[in-house]
Amino acid sequence: MSKFAAAVLNRKGGVGKTTVAVILAEIALVRHNRVLAIDLDPSRNFSDALGFMKNYFRSSLRVKNTLEESDADAPEEWIVIDCPPTLNEESKYAVDFADIVVVPVRPDFFSLSNLGVLYSTAKKFGKEKAQLPLVKVGYDSSVMTKIANQLISERDYPVAEELPLHKHIPYNITSGRVWSTGLIARSRQPYERLYDKLMKAVDRLQNGITDINEVWTDRKEEESDEDI
Ligand SMILES: Nc1ncnc2c1ncn2[C@@H]1O[C@H](COP(=O)(O)OP(=O)(O)O)[C@@H](O)[C@H]1O
Ligand SMILES: [Mg+2]
Repeated sequence: MSKFAAAVLNRKGGVGKTTVAVILAEIALVRHNRVLAIDLDPSRNFSDALGFMKNYFRSSLRVKNTLEESDADAPEEWIVIDCPPTLNEESKYAVDFADIVVVPVRPDFFSLSNLGVLYSTAKKFGKEKAQLPLVKVGYDSSVMTKIANQLISERDYPVAEELPLHKHIPYNITSGRVWSTGLIARSRQPYERLYDKLMKAVDRLQNGITDINEVWTDRKEEESDEDI
């Protein structure tokens, strides 16, 4: 894979879009990818959170506020697009542009109720359902989580990863620290796993695989079995 574009979108605000976008951008930088970060939300939270990082990482980070056709030819290996909580023209273009649209969802009805329109819009751009995986944020043992999980499986939505809530994350991201500061390895893992799964999924999608389970199931064990 030479180049990868991920958009982060949900028509609901406060579900963790910007946080996921920041963390993915940081992991990409840590792994020595050049990153083009595109902040389409007028709140500019994504640009603000990334502001300090230009000097922190050796890999290059470029931040801009518009998404253009020519960005497809950008020199960066990784493009991360943070969308506003609306399906406006810019967000729609991000859906069209991105290889994968990451859709953060909290365990509440409103962060799930708008998904139908998102998937039907994506379909108009020729996107497969497997290209819009949900990322569950803060799913726990509550009744709301149970209801949300039921809804997700009834509608057969793809799920890329579950991310835990962590009290350090809002602090680190808004105070301009590296997001993983103070997080133990076990807390960081789900985010790194999400990054790795995105890389594997885009490979499978490029090979014409569109089955949700095939794209999003971690086949590491099967693969290592074959290696033996
Ligand atoms: N994994 C997480 N753990 C703890 N707090 C989180 C996490 N993800 C997001 N938050 C917090 O939830 C709030 C909304 O997150 P944000 O990323 O700004 O959402 P959005 O971009 O969808 O509006 C912020 O205060 C953020 O710090
Ligand atoms: Mg945001």
